[in-house]
Amino acid sequence: MPKLLKQSDRFKGPEKPIPPALKTQVDPVRMPKHVAVIMDGNGRWAKRRGLPRVVGHRAGANAVREVVEGARELGVRYLTLYAFSSENWKRPKQEIRALMALLRRYLREELEEMLHYGIGLKVIGNIDLLPPKVSQEIREIIAKTSHCGKMTVILALSYGGRTEIVEAARKLAERCLAGEVRPPDIDEKSFSQHLYLPECPDPDLLIRTSGEHRLSNFLLWQLSYSEIYFTPTLWPDFTKEEFCRAIVDYQKRDRRYGGVSV
Ligand code: IPE
Ligand code: IPE
Ligand code: MG
Repeated sequence: MPKLLKQSDRFKGPEKPIPPALKTQVDPVRMPKHVAVIMDGNGRWAKRRGLPRVVGHRAGANAVREVVEGARELGVRYLTLYAFSSENWKRPKQEIRALMALLRRYLREELEEMLHYGIGLKVIGNIDLLPPKVSQEIREIIAKTSHCGKMTVILALSYGGRTEIVEAARKLAERCLAGEVRPPDIDEKSFSQHLYLPECPDPDLLIRTSGEHRLSNFLLWQLSYSEIYFTPTLWPDFTKEEFCRAIVDYQKRDRRYGGVSV
């Protein structure tokens, strides 16, 4: 592992700040409250360099740091990162093991910074399926940062959008059977109260890297009116500068929600 870490660091350039000329294009009043990211392309990034996929994941962890920092600097309140899908369990055991080790290491390394900047951690997905050491670490960090209210980073781990919806339906069905809810009273609002993080607003902006144009079972309910920014950049190459460009692009959009422009 240490050898692989060094290999990935070789490709990590010095961290660059958001160019001031770009930053001034951001309108702080129209900042998206919630940005969600499908961090894709680690494997291809490594393959292009003739390296094992795990090196791509390690380099991808650096991009996570960049984006959390960029979001914090710009004042994004919620940042959801798709780190491991319910479908990713199909991957080779060795890759899963490496991903879990990286995740644990990342969280440990970031805790101090999160506390310093008032960043709280939350999770969506079924973390009981993760190795116990990892889920335990996550629970600890959630608890330690629970008072942090400046920004919330939500990690989607062993997450599937359809499962989230099915679980909400099941909870509602149980409440109906218990006589707490009447079926005619179920509406979009009460349904969404049964999703994983009911207090979190829907994402305003979804970013997907690596040139794929699909949702891959991510936040199927919550993304219904999100703006989408697709980029061919592979996740390890994604920078806070590009994050800022995505926000500038988002701010040029006209969100009509089915209505007409005013
Ligand atoms: C995203 O990169 C990371 C995870 C899904 C965990 P990939 O590993 O999917 O990279 P590609 O898509 O194979 O390039
Ligand atoms: C989506 O990427 C999941 C994450 C980024 C964690 P995948 O690489 O798993 O998606 P597909 O398989 O290309 O749809
Ligand atoms: Mg992928």
